[in-house]
Amino acid sequence: MPTPHLAAKPGDIADIVLLPGDPLRAKLIAERFFESPTLYNEVRGMLGYTGTYKGRRVSVQGSGMGVPSISIYAHELISEYGVRTLIRVGTCGSMQPQVGIRDLVLGQSASTDSSTVSRRFPGMTFAPTADFHLLHRAWQSANERGFKVHVGNVLSTDTFYDVDQPDGWKTWASHNVLAVEMEAAGLYTIAARLGARALTVLMVSDSLVTHESLSAAERQTGFADMALAALDAAIG
Ligand code: HPA
Repeated sequence: MPTPHLAAKPGDIADIVLLPGDPLRAKLIAERFFESPTLYNEVRGMLGYTGTYKGRRVSVQGSGMGVPSISIYAHELISEYGVRTLIRVGTCGSMQPQVGIRDLVLGQSASTDSSTVSRRFPGMTFAPTADFHLLHRAWQSANERGFKVHVGNVLSTDTFYDVDQPDGWKTWASHNVLAVEMEAAGLYTIAARLGARALTVLMVSDSLVTHESLSAAERQTGFADMALAALDAAIG
């Protein structure tokens, strides 16, 4: 059945879904890497496609920005369309000097300042965690593709522009959190709750340490290679 945010019919979506934040990146991945892609969703412009990759049926779905947005899509994909494997592909800001621009970061775990996770565990702390098999396969395929790969804790923040606490990220950095993004903790929590497996694969697009950043064009090149590493992990 179509959901409030996905117009797909039952069976239109594969059991493996890649989740870029930007719907135009979903279009790029489908058109560049899928055989015979078909568009199954345009609701809110959040494009979703299904096709085949190396003979395996796969989908790619824009997730939007932030924990609430990706949580909606993850929930509907898993509970209404039977999706079992969800891999977020996105960009992140490095919080460590050894994590350089264009490196990959695999989110083994995802810390967060989002109350959408903490409200489930009053007075306690849940550790949103990636699926080990997906993590291991992504580590292998990203290394084979020549990326410098870091594995560890990422921060999923609700605040891209933290004008009141501009140095707030340093507390996470001092606890060896590698990079900041905005969705992984939501994805891992929903996947854990609904019994699916999940991973987050990130390319470093900017650095909070050195203040370097990639241009939009530079982001696209590395992003496509990263999507292939994620697809290999997903079907592996
Ligand atoms: N903050 C949050 N999300 C991000 C960043 C950042 O610096 N870079 C890429 N995604």
